[in-house]
Amino acid sequence: LARPVDEVPQGSLSALRREAAGCRRCPLWRPATQTVFGAGPARAQVLLVGEQPGDREDLEGKPFVGPAGQLLRKALVEAGLAPQSLYLTNTVKHFKFQPRGKRRLHQRANAAEQAACRPWLAAELDRINPDIVVALGAMAAQTLFGPGFRLTHQRGQWQRLGPHTQALATWHPSAILRMRSPEREAAYAQLLADLRRLHDPPA
Ligand code: URA
Ligand code: SF4
Repeated sequence: LARPVDEVPQGSLSALRREAAGCRRCPLWRPATQTVFGAGPARAQVLLVGEQPGDREDLEGKPFVGPAGQLLRKALVEAGLAPQSLYLTNTVKHFKFQPRGKRRLHQRANAAEQAACRPWLAAELDRINPDIVVALGAMAAQTLFGPGFRLTHQRGQWQRLGPHTQALATWHPSAILRMRSPEREAAYAQLLADLRRLHDPPA
Protein backbone atom coordinates (compact mmCIF):
# COMPACT_ATOMS: atom_id res chain seq x y z
CA LEU A 1 0.00 0.00 0.00
CA ALA A 2 1.59 3.25 -1.14
CA ARG A 3 1.52 5.56 1.81
CA PRO A 4 3.38 8.83 1.31
CA VAL A 5 4.16 10.18 4.76
CA ASP A 6 2.46 13.53 4.23
CA GLU A 7 -0.76 11.76 3.26
CA VAL A 8 -1.08 9.65 6.39
CA PRO A 9 -2.98 11.45 9.14
CA GLN A 10 -1.04 11.64 12.42
CA GLY A 11 -2.15 10.89 15.97
CA SER A 12 -3.37 7.91 17.95
CA LEU A 13 -5.99 5.49 16.69
CA SER A 14 -8.69 7.22 18.72
CA ALA A 15 -7.57 10.61 17.39
CA LEU A 16 -7.79 9.21 13.87
CA ARG A 17 -11.28 7.91 14.53
CA ARG A 18 -12.42 11.33 15.74
CA GLU A 19 -10.81 13.06 12.76
CA ALA A 20 -12.34 10.59 10.29
CA ALA A 21 -15.78 11.28 11.73
CA GLY A 22 -15.56 14.71 10.08
CA CYS A 23 -13.91 13.58 6.84
CA ARG A 24 -14.90 15.43 3.67
CA ARG A 25 -12.21 14.04 1.35
CA CYS A 26 -14.81 12.71 -1.10
CA PRO A 27 -18.57 13.24 -1.63
CA LEU A 28 -19.69 10.01 0.10
CA TRP A 29 -19.99 11.61 3.54
CA ARG A 30 -22.95 13.79 2.56
CA PRO A 31 -25.87 11.34 2.17
CA ALA A 32 -24.46 8.79 4.64
CA THR A 33 -25.34 8.62 8.35
CA GLN A 34 -21.78 8.50 9.69
CA THR A 35 -18.20 7.43 9.06
CA VAL A 36 -17.72 3.73 9.79
CA PHE A 37 -14.15 3.61 11.04
CA GLY A 38 -12.33 0.38 11.87
CA ALA A 39 -13.01 -1.36 15.17
CA GLY A 40 -11.00 -3.63 17.43
CA PRO A 41 -7.97 -3.61 19.72
CA ALA A 42 -5.20 -1.13 18.87
CA ARG A 43 -2.73 -3.99 19.56
CA ALA A 44 -4.50 -6.51 17.30
CA GLN A 45 -2.12 -8.92 15.55
CA VAL A 46 -4.53 -9.51 12.69
CA LEU A 47 -6.23 -6.77 10.66
CA LEU A 48 -9.02 -7.57 8.20
CA VAL A 49 -9.97 -5.17 5.40
CA GLY A 50 -13.37 -5.33 3.68
CA GLU A 51 -14.83 -3.11 0.99
CA GLN A 52 -17.18 -0.52 2.37
CA PRO A 53 -19.93 -0.32 4.97
CA GLY A 54 -23.43 -1.50 4.09
CA ASP A 55 -26.82 -0.29 5.26
CA ARG A 56 -26.55 -1.78 8.75
CA GLU A 57 -23.00 -0.60 9.27
CA ASP A 58 -24.01 2.92 8.23
CA LEU A 59 -26.81 2.97 10.82
CA GLU A 60 -24.79 1.37 13.65
CA GLY A 61 -21.45 3.02 12.92
CA LYS A 62 -19.55 -0.29 13.19
CA PRO A 63 -18.00 -2.49 10.50
CA PHE A 64 -19.33 -5.96 9.66
CA VAL A 65 -22.54 -5.91 11.70
CA GLY A 66 -24.88 -6.75 8.76
CA PRO A 67 -25.46 -10.06 6.92
CA ALA A 68 -21.94 -10.24 5.44
CA GLY A 69 -20.51 -9.51 8.89
CA GLN A 70 -22.54 -12.37 10.40
CA LEU A 71 -21.10 -14.78 7.83
CA LEU A 72 -17.58 -13.47 8.41
CA ARG A 73 -17.87 -13.79 12.21
CA LYS A 74 -19.22 -17.35 11.89
CA ALA A 75 -16.28 -18.26 9.64
CA LEU A 76 -13.76 -16.65 12.00
CA VAL A 77 -15.09 -18.63 14.97
CA GLU A 78 -15.10 -21.86 12.94
CA ALA A 79 -11.48 -21.15 11.97
CA GLY A 80 -10.55 -20.79 15.65
CA LEU A 81 -10.13 -17.00 15.62
CA ALA A 82 -11.84 -14.77 18.20
CA PRO A 83 -13.55 -11.93 16.26
CA GLN A 84 -13.08 -9.52 19.19
CA SER A 85 -9.29 -10.01 19.11
CA LEU A 86 -9.09 -8.81 15.49
CA TYR A 87 -9.18 -5.32 14.00
CA LEU A 88 -11.91 -5.07 11.36
CA THR A 89 -11.99 -2.22 8.88
CA ASN A 90 -12.93 -1.28 5.32
CA THR A 91 -11.24 0.15 2.24
CA VAL A 92 -13.86 2.93 2.07
CA LYS A 93 -15.36 4.29 5.29
CA HIS A 94 -18.75 5.57 4.09
CA PHE A 95 -21.81 3.69 2.82
CA LYS A 96 -22.56 4.46 -0.84
CA PHE A 97 -26.13 3.91 -1.96
CA GLN A 98 -28.88 4.71 -4.40
CA PRO A 99 -32.25 5.55 -2.78
CA ARG A 100 -35.01 3.27 -4.12
CA GLY A 101 -38.29 4.03 -2.36
CA LYS A 102 -37.70 3.29 1.31
CA ARG A 103 -34.68 1.14 0.53
CA ARG A 104 -31.05 2.11 0.02
CA LEU A 105 -29.36 0.03 -2.67
CA HIS A 106 -25.66 -0.59 -2.17
CA GLN A 107 -23.36 0.97 -4.79
CA ARG A 108 -19.69 0.20 -5.27
CA ALA A 109 -17.31 3.07 -4.42
CA ASN A 110 -15.48 4.24 -7.56
CA ALA A 111 -11.72 4.54 -8.02
CA ALA A 112 -11.62 8.22 -6.98
CA GLU A 113 -13.55 7.49 -3.77
CA GLN A 114 -11.31 4.51 -3.01
CA ALA A 115 -8.22 6.66 -3.54
CA ALA A 116 -9.60 9.50 -1.40
CA CYS A 117 -10.18 7.10 1.50
CA ARG A 118 -6.81 5.33 1.33
CA PRO A 119 -5.03 7.58 3.83
CA TRP A 120 -7.35 6.34 6.58
CA LEU A 121 -6.53 2.69 5.87
CA ALA A 122 -2.84 3.56 5.57
CA ALA A 123 -3.01 5.27 8.97
CA GLU A 124 -4.79 2.31 10.57
CA LEU A 125 -2.12 -0.07 9.20
CA ASP A 126 0.61 2.27 10.39
CA ARG A 127 -0.75 2.69 13.92
CA ILE A 128 -1.80 -0.95 14.50
CA ASN A 129 1.21 -2.45 12.71
CA PRO A 130 -0.37 -5.94 12.54
CA ASP A 131 1.58 -9.15 11.90
CA ILE A 132 -1.10 -10.34 9.49
CA VAL A 133 -3.42 -8.49 7.10
CA VAL A 134 -6.37 -10.15 5.36
CA ALA A 135 -7.91 -8.55 2.29
CA LEU A 136 -11.55 -9.57 1.89
CA GLY A 137 -12.37 -9.34 -1.81
CA ALA A 138 -10.78 -7.69 -4.81
CA MET A 139 -11.26 -4.05 -3.75
CA ALA A 140 -9.23 -4.49 -0.58
CA ALA A 141 -6.70 -6.75 -2.30
CA GLN A 142 -6.04 -4.30 -5.12
CA THR A 143 -5.76 -1.42 -2.66
CA LEU A 144 -3.19 -3.36 -0.62
CA PHE A 145 -1.30 -5.27 -3.34
CA GLY A 146 -1.78 -3.11 -6.44
CA PRO A 147 -4.20 -2.97 -9.38
CA GLY A 148 -2.67 -6.05 -11.03
CA PHE A 149 -3.76 -8.36 -8.21
CA ARG A 150 -6.17 -11.09 -9.35
CA LEU A 151 -8.20 -12.67 -6.57
CA THR A 152 -9.13 -15.69 -8.70
CA HIS A 153 -5.44 -16.55 -9.23
CA GLN A 154 -3.84 -15.36 -6.00
CA ARG A 155 -6.50 -16.07 -3.37
CA GLY A 156 -5.07 -17.64 -0.22
CA GLN A 157 -1.42 -17.02 -1.16
CA TRP A 158 0.81 -15.23 1.32
CA GLN A 159 2.11 -11.84 0.18
CA ARG A 160 4.70 -9.82 2.07
CA LEU A 161 3.22 -6.42 2.88
CA GLY A 162 6.01 -4.98 5.01
CA PRO A 163 9.15 -6.12 6.84
CA HIS A 164 7.09 -7.73 9.62
CA THR A 165 3.73 -8.10 7.94
CA GLN A 166 2.36 -11.01 5.92
CA ALA A 167 -0.92 -10.71 4.07
CA LEU A 168 -3.34 -12.77 2.07
CA ALA A 169 -6.53 -12.17 0.15
CA THR A 170 -9.65 -14.27 0.32
CA TRP A 171 -13.30 -14.19 -0.65
CA HIS A 172 -15.42 -11.30 0.46
CA PRO A 173 -18.32 -12.62 2.57
CA SER A 174 -20.81 -10.56 0.50
CA ALA A 175 -19.60 -12.33 -2.65
CA ILE A 176 -20.25 -15.70 -0.99
CA LEU A 177 -23.75 -14.56 0.01
CA ARG A 178 -24.50 -13.73 -3.64
CA MET A 179 -23.46 -17.20 -4.90
CA ARG A 180 -25.74 -20.20 -5.31
CA SER A 181 -25.10 -23.81 -4.36
CA PRO A 182 -22.79 -25.56 -4.87
CA GLU A 183 -20.39 -22.64 -5.60
CA ARG A 184 -21.43 -21.02 -2.35
CA GLU A 185 -20.43 -23.98 -0.16
CA ALA A 186 -17.18 -24.36 -2.08
CA ALA A 187 -16.27 -20.68 -1.63
CA TYR A 188 -17.16 -20.81 2.07
CA ALA A 189 -14.87 -23.82 2.48
CA GLN A 190 -12.07 -21.86 0.78
CA LEU A 191 -12.70 -18.87 3.06
CA LEU A 192 -12.42 -21.18 6.08
CA ALA A 193 -9.23 -22.79 4.76
CA ASP A 194 -7.70 -19.36 4.13
CA LEU A 195 -8.65 -18.12 7.61
CA ARG A 196 -7.18 -21.27 9.20
CA ARG A 197 -3.86 -20.44 7.53
CA LEU A 198 -3.64 -17.30 9.71
CA HIS A 199 -2.54 -19.55 12.61
CA ASP A 200 0.64 -20.38 10.71
CA PRO A 201 2.01 -17.45 8.70
CA PRO A 202 5.41 -17.71 6.97
CA ALA A 203 8.38 -16.56 9.07
N1 URA B 1 -19.77 -4.82 5.96
C1 URA B 1 -18.62 -4.13 6.07
O1 URA B 1 -18.38 -3.47 7.06
N2 URA B 1 -17.76 -4.21 5.07
C2 URA B 1 -17.96 -4.92 3.99
O2 URA B 1 -17.08 -4.94 3.15
C3 URA B 1 -19.17 -5.62 3.89
C4 URA B 1 -20.06 -5.55 4.89
FE1 SF4 C 1 -13.70 10.54 3.78
FE2 SF4 C 1 -13.58 8.00 3.07
FE3 SF4 C 1 -15.88 9.03 3.81
FE4 SF4 C 1 -14.84 9.74 1.48
S1 SF4 C 1 -15.54 7.70 2.07
S2 SF4 C 1 -15.71 11.14 3.01
S3 SF4 C 1 -12.65 9.74 1.98
S4 SF4 C 1 -14.10 8.77 5.11
